Amino acid sequence: MSKIVVVGSFVQDLAFLTPQFPTVGETRIGTFFPGPGGKGFNQAVAAARLQPGTEFIGAVGNDVFSETARSFAKSVGLTNLLEVVEGESCGAASILVDENGDNQIVVSLGANSVLSSDWIKGNLASFQSSSVVLCQLEANLSAIQTALALGRESGAATILNLAPINQDLKPDLVGMADIVTPNETEFAFVYQLLTGKSLPSDYFETSDEELHFLCRELNVPVVVITLGKMGSFISVDPDKLPQALSLAGSPYQRFSCIEADAIDTSGAGDAFNGGLAAGLVRFGGDLVQAMKFASVVAGLSVEKRGTAPAMPTLAEVEARQAL
Ligand code: RIB
Ligand code: NA
Repeated sequence: MSKIVVVGSFVQDLAFLTPQFPTVGETRIGTFFPGPGGKGFNQAVAAARLQPGTEFIGAVGNDVFSETARSFAKSVGLTNLLEVVEGESCGAASILVDENGDNQIVVSLGANSVLSSDWIKGNLASFQSSSVVLCQLEANLSAIQTALALGRESGAATILNLAPINQDLKPDLVGMADIVTPNETEFAFVYQLLTGKSLPSDYFETSDEELHFLCRELNVPVVVITLGKMGSFISVDPDKLPQALSLAGSPYQRFSCIEADAIDTSGAGDAFNGGLAAGLVRFGGDLVQAMKFASVVAGLSVEKRGTAPAMPTLAEVEARQAL
C-alpha cells in the first residue's frame, strides 16, 4: 500500500470564535479566524502530513479563495489536482466555535457541487497508482461515484466518509465503499436510508454486540462510527473484507480518544478519516493499528484552532503515541 487519493471538497472556512453561540436575533462580538478547509481538503491535508505522496482532487471557483487552496496544499506537500469552474465561487463555510471548542457550521458548496466526473476520469493515472481512495459527501455525488469506481477498478481500498448528511445519497454509492465512516447522526441517517428503519436517538449507547448487528445491516465490509469524545467503534464482516485489509481479534471493537485539551473540534472527524487512510498505508491494511493511529490524529487536531491547519504532523503523532 502506498498512495492515498482524496476526492472531495475544498471550502474557504470563515471561522468566528465566540464565548457562547448567539441565540436567535442576537449579535455577538467574536474573533475572526479564516483558513482553508472543506471536508475533502482537510482529510487530504491530514493524510499528506502523515503520508507523503497524498493527492487531492477537487473543484474551486475562479476567485481569490482558490489561491488559499493552492498555496496551503503546496506548503504541506499535498499534490492538488483542481478543476477550475468558471462562474462558480469556491466553497465557503461560516463556522462558529464556542469556548468549549464546540462548533456550528453552514457550508455553501459552490464549485464543489459541480466537480465533474470527466475531471475525475481525466486523473485516472492517480487512481491507478493508489492504494487508498478516500471520499466524502460534500461534493457532486456522481463525481464521487466515479472516483470510488476508479478506486475499486484499481484495487485500492475505498473509504467513504458519510459526511455531511446529504439528502441526495443513494444506497448504490454506499455499496461502492469497503469502509464507511459515519458519525453517530450520519449512521442513523444511512441506516434509515438502507433499511427503512429509524433508530432511537440513544442507539449508540447499546451493547457493542448490538451495535455490531446494526452496522452489519448496512452490508458494507467495514463500518466505523466516530463518536466524538466517546471514541470510535469498528464493525467488520470478516467474509467480505477485501484482501488488502485485515482485522486482528473480535469483528467489533471500541477505541477510546486520547486525553486532549480541546479548544476547537471543527475538523476532528476529518483528522480521523485522513488519519485512518494514512494509518492503513502505514500499517499495511491493519485496521486495529489504523484505528488507534486515527484516534491520536483526531485527538491532536482538537488542540489547535482551525480545520486543515490544525492537522498534526507525523512527529506530533508519534510523540503522543509514545506517551
Ligand atoms: O468538517 C469540517 C469542515 O466542514 C469545515 O472545514 C467546513 O469547511 C465544512 O465543510
Ligand atoms: Na481543530
